[in-house]
Amino acid sequence: MTDRSSANHLEIAPVKYENGQMMILDQTLLPCETVYIEINTKEQVFEAIYKLRVRGAPAIGVAAAYGSYIAMRDSKTINFEAFMAEYQQVKTYLASSRPTAVNLSWALDRMQSRIKNSSNLTIDQIKSAMLKEAEEIRQEDERVCRQIGENALSLLKPGMGILTHCNAGTIATSKYGTALAAIYLGQERGYDFKVFADETRPLLQGARLTTWELSRFGVNVTLICDNMASIVMKNGWINAVVVGCDRVAANGDTANKIGTSGVAILAKNYGIPVYVHAPVSTIDLVTKTGEDIHIELRDGSEIYRMWYAKDMAPAGVKTYNPAFDVTDAEYITAIITERGIAYPPYTESLAKIMKG
Ligand code: MRU
Repeated sequence: MTDRSSANHLEIAPVKYENGQMMILDQTLLPCETVYIEINTKEQVFEAIYKLRVRGAPAIGVAAAYGSYIAMRDSKTINFEAFMAEYQQVKTYLASSRPTAVNLSWALDRMQSRIKNSSNLTIDQIKSAMLKEAEEIRQEDERVCRQIGENALSLLKPGMGILTHCNAGTIATSKYGTALAAIYLGQERGYDFKVFADETRPLLQGARLTTWELSRFGVNVTLICDNMASIVMKNGWINAVVVGCDRVAANGDTANKIGTSGVAILAKNYGIPVYVHAPVSTIDLVTKTGEDIHIELRDGSEIYRMWYAKDMAPAGVKTYNPAFDVTDAEYITAIITERGIAYPPYTESLAKIMKG
């Protein structure tokens, strides 16, 4: 189904649930086509997350929340323990679709707690409670992202040059994005930012998604290849680097899209601040350091085949295709959450933020 009516600025949700139907914006088709696909089974949820039809840590969490409801909606059991056991299987299955973003298991845990806390209800009522929880997760994410944007904007000045990597924008969340939220709020307030978007190889989230989103909103955005970050910094065009994240460890080490750590190391060299934007749902104090973060490895054909008419490497070439890397805390100037801004030492500042 092609839905052009919703192709309007920030009102383009990555995950929708309308009239009993879950739908996912197929981000693999952007920027050429704006197509929503219908989701009716847990296998379709898994496939959509694994193939990055829905992607970005918070959006994956929202998709998993609705997706686990879809999976349980047709459950035939009328026994609470059996329902819970069935949910546990769904949770394990969906959580395995992508391992790095903590929001996926965070959302599935939240759905599980909702089921547990509804043990006095009928199974039909529990199913309704699950749908309500998914709705709440989606709506909360929108509020959280807006607040991250407000907090981040306090660190930026009108006219700044800003470099971003991957896509941490509106389609990676329920609305606004994390790293791009301040850019949208600034745009509404006449900040006139000049944004540079890394293309973000191999899946081109920067080229296909970030430039698409920002230009639709009228933001001044320039696309560069990943290996051009150094020259734009050296030219003096960049005043801040803004990125999202998939998991922040207790010491501030942060997993984000592959290439982020290189950008952060370059930025430190040129004295440019690096701001990581994280809903508290992405902060994982159980994971002590970046070394404990599981990095997703993807098929090598994404590097040499995906966007080309012919293979751009000799047959049988060895590949290494990690989807994320870890930026060490020492390269991160601040971590911006909806509850405030954390500065080094992160072990203390993040613990304080998580206590609320
Ligand atoms: O592989 P992706 O496209 O899901 O990776 C997304 C990122 O790395 C984002 O920067 C991160 O999830 C934050 S999205 C607000």
